[in-house]
Amino acid sequence: MDKYYRFAELLLRSRYAVALTGAGISVESGIPDFRSEHGLWARYDPFEYGHIDSFRADPGKVWNMLVEMKDLVESVGPNEAHYALGELERLGVLKAVITQNVDGLHQKGGAFNVIEFHGSFRSMHCDHCGKPYAAREVSLERLPPLCACGGPIRPDVVLFGEGIPDGAYSRALDAAGRCDLMVVVGTSASVAPASELPLIAGRRGARIVEINPEASELPREATEMHIVARAGVAFRNIMKIVKSMHTEGKN
Ligand code: APR
Repeated sequence: MDKYYRFAELLLRSRYAVALTGAGISVESGIPDFRSEHGLWARYDPFEYGHIDSFRADPGKVWNMLVEMKDLVESVGPNEAHYALGELERLGVLKAVITQNVDGLHQKGGAFNVIEFHGSFRSMHCDHCGKPYAAREVSLERLPPLCACGGPIRPDVVLFGEGIPDGAYSRALDAAGRCDLMVVVGTSASVAPASELPLIAGRRGARIVEINPEASELPREATEMHIVARAGVAFRNIMKIVKSMHTEGKN
């Protein structure tokens, strides 16, 4: 419990705390992560299904995987960790959530300032002419969905081989450069440039706290504290302490 107290103190003393999240934060919502034993990439080869070149070679095949992902993320809800981050933002403690997830669960959990580093399924565009679409106007009865120009429509999620959307990239860099505390939750920190954000923050003097039941690829010396627990369990403990400290602070 000591670590939870220390972490709650760091949070409440911080001037500008941000969170960086990965697939692990949504595992307790029922979405498997990518690289664990039963993760998505154990069933689908990431380069065969997750790369922009694969999409261009055979959009229908990649869409089969994307539909499975989209159906799953649309069928589940936020868990305690998502709600906790939303609550911390409401309390003024957390200033932003940078997420690699495309599931929209942070927003559903009450967070407003969410930087979707790898895009989302909410919007799509034609891979040929660039015409934008809202996801709800794209029928997925036949795959791939086609634009009026004949090109394949794709979701606005970042595939391997593609860059980070400009707006998300600059907002994330700004948040990483500005924060004095970065909470890294449920990411293997194995995919750049997201994995570089804690290092950027650390070089600017921010403290890095990691919440993950396993070790990630973040260098040990970069992190102040590693809370070895599942995100939902960890945030349940943390929020009890934060709420009691926050109320005491007001009295
Ligand atoms: N709570 C917290 N962390 C968890 C939990 C949990 N309940 N369950 C698993 N984890 C951790 C795992 O230990 C692992 O370190 O979450 C991490 C998930 O790592 P990845 O599967 O690699 O997911 P992520 O880091 O988000 O992947 C980054 O890679 O495939 C691309 O674009 C995709 O955004 C994704 C990116």
